[in-house]
Amino acid sequence: MPLFQHLAIDLGTAYSVAYLFSDDSFLWEPTFVALKRDGRFPLAIGREAKAMYGLNPSNIRVVQPLADGVISDFEVCSLYLQCLIKKALKKKRGIVRNVLFCLPWGATDVEVRAYRKQLELFPFSRIFLVREPYAAALGADISLENPSGSLVIDLGGGTTEITVLSLNGIVQCVSLKVGGNAMDLSIKQEIENRHRFSIGLKTAEEIKIRHGSIAPVIEDHDFEIKGFHRLYRFPRKKQINSSDIRQALEVPVQKILSGIAYSLESLTPELISDISAKGAVLVGGGALLKGWPERIKKRFNLSVQIPENPHFCVIRGMKKILLDLKKYQPLLEE
Ligand SMILES: Nc1ncnc2c1ncn2[C@@H]1O[C@H](COP(=O)(O)OP(=O)(O)OP(=O)(O)O)[C@@H](O)[C@H]1O
Ligand SMILES: [Mg+2]
Repeated sequence: MPLFQHLAIDLGTAYSVAYLFSDDSFLWEPTFVALKRDGRFPLAIGREAKAMYGLNPSNIRVVQPLADGVISDFEVCSLYLQCLIKKALKKKRGIVRNVLFCLPWGATDVEVRAYRKQLELFPFSRIFLVREPYAAALGADISLENPSGSLVIDLGGGTTEITVLSLNGIVQCVSLKVGGNAMDLSIKQEIENRHRFSIGLKTAEEIKIRHGSIAPVIEDHDFEIKGFHRLYRFPRKKQINSSDIRQALEVPVQKILSGIAYSLESLTPELISDISAKGAVLVGGGALLKGWPERIKKRFNLSVQIPENPHFCVIRGMKKILLDLKKYQPLLEE
């Protein structure tokens, strides 16, 4: 058993991933904590806690410690990290020497201090911080030293980050507070307004994943949802058509497309020509929503690449950094 452990953590609004270097293992868990209503003791985190979300038992509250990419509940975030790290280490002994932690591009000094304070609660020997777009690009196999420009769009749960990189640096990053969570909310509201039917956000997310699309790339189909009729006030089933979901997703999708347009408008002709030739790379769980390549092609005439398991791109990039901390030193903050 190695004496030293090295760990990478991508703390996301919707899902977090921890990577343990010594046995090359990934732990992927929703960023949710279930607590006793009157206590600060976590009953469960991750998948188990998310399963309790929306059930509202009187003695349990389920908290999402991040909102829009940043910590919204410091204390609960700390509990989440503690449990996630413990789970990732799988009762292994040994000193955690290097910890690499991912920061949203737009994290302010105050927010960076908050993340650092969280990590300093653990007995890590060294803490390295990397901004998310660098890790996302490395995870998507984009060579950062390349002098030609690349466009990486990270479609996360709380945020969408549209980044242009070139020559080891970030030329520009536009961070929007719109992501998968906003899409879930739009689906919930559309079903409430159009069908007078209440569903929870967890159900809305499941609907998005199973039946959602943002271009006519799937055959429209009816499917059944379970929820609560707002007029009759008791549980019911309801037939919904997948085209309703596409319509519901249009508002957040338009916001993201406008963000991409804004980002492209301010680039030099050289960068635009590089990006036109190479296309855009989509990462983050939201890249799996059906129809992004078609929408981006139609609006910007750009081809789109989606790496395998795009929700693991950031952690894959972090793994590369951990493997060669010396090489990637210029990208790190300590
Ligand atoms: N197959 C799918 N279709 C559509 N959306 C999906 C799919 N799989 C996952 N998602 C969505 O991807 C989002 C999570 O992506 P990701 O894990 O990259 O976000 P995050 O890192 O937690 O968020 P952020 O980077 O904003 O802090 C969720 O909103 C989830 O519903
Ligand atoms: Mg993310």
